[in-house]
Amino acid sequence: MSMMDTAGGLPDSRYAPGVALGAHRRPSAEAMAIVQKTAATVAERPVALAEAFYHHLFLLAPGVREMFPAEMSAQNEKLCRALLASIRALVEPERYAARMEHSLYTLGHDHAHRYAVQPEHYPYVGHALVRAVRDVSQDWTTTTSSAWVWVYDWMSAHMLNQVR
Ligand code: HEM
Repeated sequence: MSMMDTAGGLPDSRYAPGVALGAHRRPSAEAMAIVQKTAATVAERPVALAEAFYHHLFLLAPGVREMFPAEMSAQNEKLCRALLASIRALVEPERYAARMEHSLYTLGHDHAHRYAVQPEHYPYVGHALVRAVRDVSQDWTTTTSSAWVWVYDWMSAHMLNQVR
């Protein structure tokens, strides 16, 4: 699966034999556990993560630079911290995933109005996040990558209210 493939899902059939995975499907417990583990590791290096994230994001989508404060320090790099915090809030999927799906819808609505975020921005942020986590994490595999893509796609599908 290429990095530009935003259809989501894990190519590894161990996760869901015979099931075509879509961005809207809630990630499996295994995928969430993998993401949790990497998220905990990269959270120990928040500055390196934020630097890598914005580096990749502004390289991929120079046009979004103006949506962010001109001066960005480790303290005001909101989006990167917010992304990691949202992902870490999934710690107990059974308890939190459903509640999060609901609040993501509101968050997506706010993003569209407050920051003029367009649907086409979501894949850029997803790619920047996955690349930044890859840069900072110690052990990165295609399975880790797929799990992050799945979780991010699921979150953005809810923010964009694409879930039927
Ligand atoms: C799963 C996807 C995303 C999640 C969970 C997420 C979450 C958040 C949260 C919780 C905040 C801080 C609270 C707030 O100010 O509303 C935030 C800020 C922000 N987000 Fe997102 N966001 C996502 C995707 C995006 C995308 C695709 C863009 C488009 C470029 C974007 C642009 C921004 C901007 C510009 C800010 C303010 C940053 C600042 O002032 O430094 N977000 N995001």
